Amino acid sequence: MSVIMALSLNICRLGASALSAPLKGITRSRHFAQVIRYSSTGELPKYEFVEASRVGEKSNVGLIRLNRPKALNALCNALVKDLTDAVALLDKDQSVGAIVITGSEKAFAAGADIKEMKDKTFASNIIEGLLEDWNKISACKKPIIAAVNGYCLGGGCELAMMCDIIYAGDKAKFGQPEISIGTIPGAGGTQRIARSCGKSKAMEICLTGNQFTAQDAEKMGLVSKVIPADQLVAESIKLGERIASMSPIIVSLCKESVNRAFETTLAEGLHYEKRMFFATFATKDQKEGMTAFVEKRSPNFTNS
Ligand code: CAA
Repeated sequence: MSVIMALSLNICRLGASALSAPLKGITRSRHFAQVIRYSSTGELPKYEFVEASRVGEKSNVGLIRLNRPKALNALCNALVKDLTDAVALLDKDQSVGAIVITGSEKAFAAGADIKEMKDKTFASNIIEGLLEDWNKISACKKPIIAAVNGYCLGGGCELAMMCDIIYAGDKAKFGQPEISIGTIPGAGGTQRIARSCGKSKAMEICLTGNQFTAQDAEKMGLVSKVIPADQLVAESIKLGERIASMSPIIVSLCKESVNRAFETTLAEGLHYEKRMFFATFATKDQKEGMTAFVEKRSPNFTNS
């Protein structure tokens, strides 16, 4: 199915939800309009706070650059809306096999926007569903690579951890400084650091607010590779291209299976993995992949 057909199929669904959600109507209508434009032209929209493009030799990697330099990419509501819209469009684009999210050399993101948050109340947080939109990032079916240069603090670090793989520039600085401004991480920091680095590291990071280096982050298993800052985005795109060369349907089953490890017991996770492994045998891409191996040629995956 072409990008245009796939996106067109989603237009009806999005249109219906726009009508049924008047409170979020403006945002949804904007997204609806963007989907229509994207489906008819294949061009990614121009956003205020992110730049989205398709990159790589085959233009099969989505690149989203956070672009709010004066505030060190602090994640205000409008930026998060732009980001989640761009992720949703690239997730549905069948020509794209992986997505890279990056910031600038100075900052991946310095956290949620403190100025926007400071006067909020418990009640308004509940009513507005503060930070709920952020979950859309982890709901993306395609692999997302966070390419982190500079400050990656608070919500910035949490955003990176919502992604599937983190590559860090050699001067990146990570941290969960919320404790020093009288709050705690609210977009997954306490949970995801504990899961990827263990209790002691999670406690130290969250209870002190101390920053730590890319090299420390690699040692503790938070990032998978440290790369010279000026090569970070290119290397992340290369990683995206490698993933995009696989069968998209198998990639999504694989992502789902790894994610299952963080949601369940080992026995249930192993059972789930086995079912997913068996399920790959219902695809043409499994037949093509194994046949290509036997015939000593490269596979030609068709996402079917
Ligand atoms: N929110 C809003 N604005 C921010 C911001 C943030 N998180 N981080 C930086 N900025 C703004 C600053 O206010 C400043 O704006 P003005 O020029 O208008 O004053 C501009 O970005 C540049 O920042 P600095 O002058 O502070 O730059 P610096 O180089 O001296 O320091 C920094 C850089 C160490 C990252 C420092 O800006 C800082 O500590 N930022 C806040 C980090 C933080 O506490 N993040 C957690 C936020 S809460 C959160 O994320 C909750 C959650 O779990 C979702």
